[in-house]
Amino acid sequence: MEALHLVVDADTLEKWRIRYLGMKGAVRAAMTLLKELSPEQRRDFGRLANEVKNTLTAAYERRKAELGGGEESRRLAVDVTLPGAGLRIGHRHVITQTIEEITEIFARMGFSVAYGPEVEDERHNFEALNIPPDHLARDELANFYITPSVMLRSQTSTVQIRVMESQPPPVRVISPGRVYRPDTVDATHSYMFHQLEGLYVDEGVTMADLKSDVDQFCKAYFGPEVATRFRPSFFPFTEPSAEVDMLFHYADGSTAWLELGGCGMVDPNVLEAVGYDSERYTGWAFGLGIERMLMRKYNIPDIRLLFENDVRFLRQF
Ligand code: DAH
Repeated sequence: MEALHLVVDADTLEKWRIRYLGMKGAVRAAMTLLKELSPEQRRDFGRLANEVKNTLTAAYERRKAELGGGEESRRLAVDVTLPGAGLRIGHRHVITQTIEEITEIFARMGFSVAYGPEVEDERHNFEALNIPPDHLARDELANFYITPSVMLRSQTSTVQIRVMESQPPPVRVISPGRVYRPDTVDATHSYMFHQLEGLYVDEGVTMADLKSDVDQFCKAYFGPEVATRFRPSFFPFTEPSAEVDMLFHYADGSTAWLELGGCGMVDPNVLEAVGYDSERYTGWAFGLGIERMLMRKYNIPDIRLLFENDVRFLRQF
């Protein structure tokens, strides 16, 4: 009897029933004793045995009802209409997504993609780019040198040289990739970031091509409302050189000119360094900051967010 409240499932309840109320159960065994008793004893014992049997049967039925109800409510506790737990599937980092998006835009404009090594030599990082040995950009403290002539590349302009070395003109490529500089890390600087290099060399390429191609790209990536402007500048590997700015429209209606990177007409010395005929061919080149572009587009205030690998941040893109 006592044990009945411990019974919590249908199987155990059935075992309990067989043990006490079954054909070979305790109650039945007591009944078989009746015939060995005197008529008087039989009456009293019979009544008692019947009471016990009725009590046990009632208790059994009650428990059975309880358990039946219990199981039903347990089943109902699982709400099958709730959304499933779901697997959390990863996705590409926002920088990779941006590179893919940019690559696709330039692919539509007829550009293919080239990649170069991140560990570079001085020829590709400096010499062939018309950067003289005493130039500040070659300073030991301005670069991650591995040996005096091998380094982590400080710019993707290296890929201009590698591409031109590997093929004759015409060239129409972009090259996205990582570059390294020992800058102090803050909200807008990192010792590693990404650049997008562009290079177009053919007969008759002019600054008008540069301006229209960069402008087309900016409108495709940021939206048709943006405008671009080109300010005179200097880079050893372009002549003339320019900084390209973009007029960005903020959500609140205000606008600001934001610097995207450098560009210009490929210096004849660079064309000659790779064996191109600089009398016959001209070209434009640019180098834009990828983080700078995507931080603007997604309104990300701090470059460090991109490299901390905090999924709470990355999951948003
Ligand atoms: N390599 C330059 C830098 O890292 C950016 C740059 C400027 C690239 C002008 C170019 C260019 O291709 O024409 O600052």
